[in-house]
Amino acid sequence: MTLCNECAPILVNEEAGCNIWLMTVRAPEIAATAAPGQFVHVKIPGMDDHILRRPLGVYAADAEAGTVDMMYQVLGFGTDRMTALVPGADAVELIGPIGRGWEVPAGCKRALVVAGGVGSAPLYPLVQSLAADGVAVDAILGASTIDALVARERYGAVLGCEPACSTDDGTFGRAGFCTPLVEEALAAAEAAGKPYDYVACCGPEPLMKLVAAMAAEAGVFCEVSLERRMACGVGACLSCVVDTVDGKRRACVDGPVFPATEVVW
Ligand SMILES: Cc1cc2nc3c(=O)[nH]c(=O)nc-3n(C[C@H](O)[C@H](O)[C@H](O)COP(=O)(O)OP(=O)(O)OC[C@H]3O[C@@H](n4cnc5c(N)ncnc54)[C@H](O)[C@@H]3O)c2cc1C
Ligand code: FES
Repeated sequence: MTLCNECAPILVNEEAGCNIWLMTVRAPEIAATAAPGQFVHVKIPGMDDHILRRPLGVYAADAEAGTVDMMYQVLGFGTDRMTALVPGADAVELIGPIGRGWEVPAGCKRALVVAGGVGSAPLYPLVQSLAADGVAVDAILGASTIDALVARERYGAVLGCEPACSTDDGTFGRAGFCTPLVEEALAAAEAAGKPYDYVACCGPEPLMKLVAAMAAEAGVFCEVSLERRMACGVGACLSCVVDTVDGKRRACVDGPVFPATEVVW
């Protein structure tokens, strides 16, 4: 793992909807090397009493432009502080790209991608890469409300069609959680004689657990991207352990993406 440590000037920092923000930074080394599903560990300026970095998935990496996009939901002190950072004046310090990203099985022809909330961020580079490799991709995006479906347009542009969507409050797409859409997609693919070879899921842990069970039931290989509180972010402190069938693993460097059957839920 080659890690870069870059002082990244902020180019864009704007609310994309519903307490979810988009930040674009100039970080050419990370942009050139990030693989789908990897993350960056972000040092936010002006947080002298909170020394820990915050992990954020790479939402998009443009090697040519030397830019990295992050999508962040404002939850606590660090992400709130990020909203005050000014493009053109402020910079964040990034360590990355970190971790094991998505590992698509060899020969994959058909994939189902399931994102809950800001889980759509680390899945977006995977969708780009699958589409570029000629894999047929179906995407399901679940969110609390229409304004939280901030990645919908980007997904649509890559897929060439609208992703299937659900909102908890029924303001867009199917009303309720996205899991019935997942069940239906798996069943429809099987019935059409074109079953999926791969399911990738990122979102709240209960969603990932359910999707993992559905994929197992359908006999489809599934990966999930796990979130843990992280201190060092580089494998040294063991603050991010995940229980797996092979014992305790570190989410930062052994993950964040794990085969779903390896996770002890
Ligand atoms: C590998 C990885 C990738 C991530 N990618 C993204 C992303 O692309 N977009 C995004 O919005 N968020 C992402 N997260 C979650 C993000 O790191 C946390 O929301 C952020 O660190 C919160 O920082 P804060 O200072 O605002 O909140 P704090 O003030 O530290 O905490 C506020 C609340 O959030 C909870 N919390 C904080 N960190 C985490 C965490 N890692 N997992 C679960 N709960 C947490 C705390 O328990 C507390 O209730 C990712 C996390 C990991 C581990
Ligand atoms: S965050 Fe320190 S080992 Fe993972």
